[in-house]
Amino acid sequence: MKKIIVIGSASIDLVVQTNKIPDTGETVLGEAFFTTPGGKGANQAVAAARLYDEVYMIGAVGDDVYGREILDNLIKNGVDVSHMDVIQNEVSGTAHITLFEEDNRIIVVPSANQHVLPETVLPKLEEFTSGDIILLQQEIPAKTVEAVINFASENGLKVMLNPAPYRKINVDLVDKVDWLTPNETESALLFEGKIDKGLISYPNKLIVTQGAKGATYYDNKLILVPGIERKVVDTTGAGDTFNGALAVGLIENRNFKDAILFANKAASFSVTGLGAQGAMPYRSQIE
Ligand code: RIB
Repeated sequence: MKKIIVIGSASIDLVVQTNKIPDTGETVLGEAFFTTPGGKGANQAVAAARLYDEVYMIGAVGDDVYGREILDNLIKNGVDVSHMDVIQNEVSGTAHITLFEEDNRIIVVPSANQHVLPETVLPKLEEFTSGDIILLQQEIPAKTVEAVINFASENGLKVMLNPAPYRKINVDLVDKVDWLTPNETESALLFEGKIDKGLISYPNKLIVTQGAKGATYYDNKLILVPGIERKVVDTTGAGDTFNGALAVGLIENRNFKDAILFANKAASFSVTGLGAQGAMPYRSQIE
């Protein structure tokens, strides 16, 4: 069975729900606070593992309470954590999230996630083989993302890069990945506002996610695979659910459009509950 390997961040989300965003120097009272597992890498691993059996995570946590919680949560969701590092005298990554008017604002403090480095990650990739799919995001150092993409293209592993959060990427790296999955904001930054031109330049590779509207790619023409509207409770992690599910759809050899539809369905469920992973669906909910 082919494997999905997620290489990325694993964090704890510290979430505040509020009906008012404070101005500079202002204090407001919020509605609620909770902590929950997050990090784009771990979210994508959990999304994939709820739909597929062979999911591995490569990343790092601190030697603190949050680190144990992050690992326990991955294990509980069926993710193989044997390649996760616990960094001594370091704290785990945190994401500081404000939920306001059906949307979120996020500040990520990478901490242990900064220790996900080429020298520790590449040796762990030796056991994986041609056809396995690597899922990458950008909450770990850029040099690791670059080294993994180069390793994968030399060794026949497939790579999906979710370029979130945005940072500049070399064109030769984009050429080497199999699939690139920015949202509309990241696409506008990557392609200097010319998203359609980007789509046409990367047929069946660039997939622009557009929230509830769906996702667009190019195959002789622009194709919008529609999303499924559901009552929104919390959109945090919807993009991660899309990416994890898309990797599952592709590893199962669905055709491109069907794989995107499968991912859209998964993402639509994820917004119906609180927390990044709270409402990520299981297979029976999607099929
Ligand atoms: O994509 C959502 C995730 O981004 C959150 O879970 C938070 O950890 C941030 O990394």
